[in-house]
Amino acid sequence: MSITAIKGFNDLLPSESGLWQFIEQTARQVFARYGFNEIRVPIVEKTELFCRSIGDTTDIVEKEMYTFTDKGGSSLTLRPEGTASVMRALIEHKLYALDSVNKLYYMGPMFRHERPQKGRYRQFHQIGAEVTGASDPLIDAQVLLMVSRLFQELGLAEPSLQINSLGCPACRPAYREALVAFLAERQGSLCEDCRRRQGTNPLRALDCKVPGCVEATQGAPAMVEHLCPDCNDHFAAVQGYLVSAEVPFSLNPRMVRGLDYYTRTTFELVTGLLGSQSAVAAGGRYDGLVEQLGGPAVPGIGFALGVERVALLLGDRSFERVPDLFIAVMGDAARTAGFRLMETDCEGKSLKSQMRRADKLKARYSIVLGDTELAAGSGALKRMEDGRQQTVALIAEGIAGAITGG
Ligand code: HAM
Repeated sequence: MSITAIKGFNDLLPSESGLWQFIEQTARQVFARYGFNEIRVPIVEKTELFCRSIGDTTDIVEKEMYTFTDKGGSSLTLRPEGTASVMRALIEHKLYALDSVNKLYYMGPMFRHERPQKGRYRQFHQIGAEVTGASDPLIDAQVLLMVSRLFQELGLAEPSLQINSLGCPACRPAYREALVAFLAERQGSLCEDCRRRQGTNPLRALDCKVPGCVEATQGAPAMVEHLCPDCNDHFAAVQGYLVSAEVPFSLNPRMVRGLDYYTRTTFELVTGLLGSQSAVAAGGRYDGLVEQLGGPAVPGIGFALGVERVALLLGDRSFERVPDLFIAVMGDAARTAGFRLMETDCEGKSLKSQMRRADKLKARYSIVLGDTELAAGSGALKRMEDGRQQTVALIAEGIAGAITGG
C-alpha cells in the first residue's frame, strides 16, 4: 500500500502555488509600505512558551497542540500560532532595545489538532504581523487599516471587520465577576464545557456554539460596558481613527478570542462564505504578553490571516505563470547553446512537437534556434498570439527589448 499524507496535512500542488505566491507577495508589499520587516522563527518551540502565552485553559493548549518529548527528554510543541514565538525572539534578541517600536511580519505553517473540515486543517498557514512598543490607539487603527488594505489589494470585498475591547487587568476582573454571577443563575442551561470553564475561562461561554449556551447567554453583560476610563478612551479613539480613515467596521461585544493574551482592542475579519470557519483573519492587542514571558513591559498588537481561507475566498482565479519566451532548438549546436539560457527540449523532440509545447505553456513569444540562426547571430522572434515575426539579434538584450517593446 502506498503511503499517503497525514489527515489534515495538505500538499500544495503546482496548480495552486501561483495563487499562494500572489497572496504572499501582496502581503509583503502591503507590510513593507507600513514599515514591517520579516522575521523567521522556528516551527518547534519549548511547550512552556505556548502554555504561558496562549493560556493553559484555552482549547489550543488543552486539546490541540502537537506536543512530544524529544530524544533529550524536553517537551516540545509544533507552534500552533506565531505571536508567542515572535515575542520570545523579541525578548531573546533584545529587539526592543534596538528600536523602541518593532514591526515584524512572518508567514508559515502552524499546527493544531482540530477536526479537519473545509477551511480547517491540522497544518495550516498564517501570514501575521506584530507591532511592539506602541500603545497609542493610532497604532491599533493603523494595523486594522493595513489589514483592510491587504484584503482590498487581494481583490476581496469579503471579509468584514468586527471589533471589540477585552479591557485590561484593571477592569476585566470586575467584568468577569459580573459575567460569572450572570452565568451562575443559568448553570442548568449551560453545556458541560461551559460549566467546567466558569472558574477558569468564563468568557468562553459567550463564544460557545451549543444552542443552550447561545440562548442562556443572551443579554449577558458585555466587556465594552465595563471598561475602565482608560480602556474606554482608548477604544473610543481607535474607533474614531477608523471612521476618519473610512475603514468600515462593526462592533461585536460578544467576540471572545481563543487565546488568553489579549487586552483592549480585539478583532476578527469574518465571512459568511466559508461555512462554520468564518474567521479569515484575527488579532488584537496583548499589552502584558512580553512581560509575562519574562521581558520588559512592552505593549503589542498584531494579527494573523489564514492563507488557506484567503485562498478559498479567492477561488479558482487563475494565477498560472506563463513564460515570456520559449526557445525551440534544432540540431546539436543549438541544443548546447539553448540549454544554458532557459528551459529547452532535452528529449530530441521534433520542432513541431516543441512548438506544441510552446502553445501548451501559453508562451508569449517563441524563437527557433538552429545552425542558420547561430551562424547569423540572429533569429525570427514570433509573437504567438498573432504569429507576427521580427528578426532579432541573438543576444539577451536584443530579445528582451523586442519582447518588452511588444
Ligand atoms: P487565531 O484566531 O487563532 O489567532 O488564528 C488566526 C487565523 O488563522 C484565523 O482567523 C484563521 O483564518 C486561521 N486559522 C486558525 N486555525 C486554523 C485552522 N485549523 N485551519 C485553517 N486556518 C486556521 C492567532 O493565531 C493569533 N496569533 C493572531 C494574532 C497575531 N494576534 C495578535 N497577533
